[in-house]
Amino acid sequence: MTAGAEERREELVALYREVSACTKCPLHETRTKTVFGAGNADADLMFVGEAPGAEEDRQGLPFVGRAGQLLNQLLGEIGLAREDVFIANVLKSRPPGNRDPQPEEIAACEPYLFEQVRLIEPKVVCTLGNFATKLLSGSPTGITKVRGTPQVHELGGRTVFLLPLLHPAAALRTPAMKETLRGDFATIPALLAGPPAAPAPSAEEVAALEAEGGSTPPPPASQLDMLG
Ligand code: URA
Repeated sequence: MTAGAEERREELVALYREVSACTKCPLHETRTKTVFGAGNADADLMFVGEAPGAEEDRQGLPFVGRAGQLLNQLLGEIGLAREDVFIANVLKSRPPGNRDPQPEEIAACEPYLFEQVRLIEPKVVCTLGNFATKLLSGSPTGITKVRGTPQVHELGGRTVFLLPLLHPAAALRTPAMKETLRGDFATIPALLAGPPAAPAPSAEEVAALEAEGGSTPPPPASQLDMLG
């Protein structure tokens, strides 16, 4: 592990402690344990789910219920294990009765998620379901419209591929969705193996190039089909 990776890991441990003691929203009153996230602190691939359920709240670990079993299976099918990836959620505390996350809960918790992305430095972030997708894409477009197509975003000060995926819990309820999720999972290895996401040129860079009479450089060829 490089020195940089060690420092990032230490900062991640400090963030874990901060999250464990967090009282920024009322969910701290009803949770059993915070669920920080788990896995490889130096992973190229991160998954972001919605919020802990009952079993996650009891164990303090993400995706340990049935949805987690499906996630493990789909990871296995693309040659990966949980130890290879980092799995987190939008919310670190369980909403009572598994109700939807509320806007003020998301707002209180989101700095932790962006800090996790900054420290883990993934190449690809897969959002699972609507809440994670809308938060990290910054767009209100629903998951069924955007799933399976990589986007390029700056998250936690880092340019990454964001791949929106159906939530495994939804896939468990509907067999056709499970096959869709499986198909979208199959695109992950190529994203991981390809060149990293490149930042879009800034408005100033575009203006400077145009003033010089040049044209705006196209994004790397490998990303053209991803930027739509
Ligand atoms: N569903 C989620 O979104 N996250 C978990 O951790 C478990 C189930």
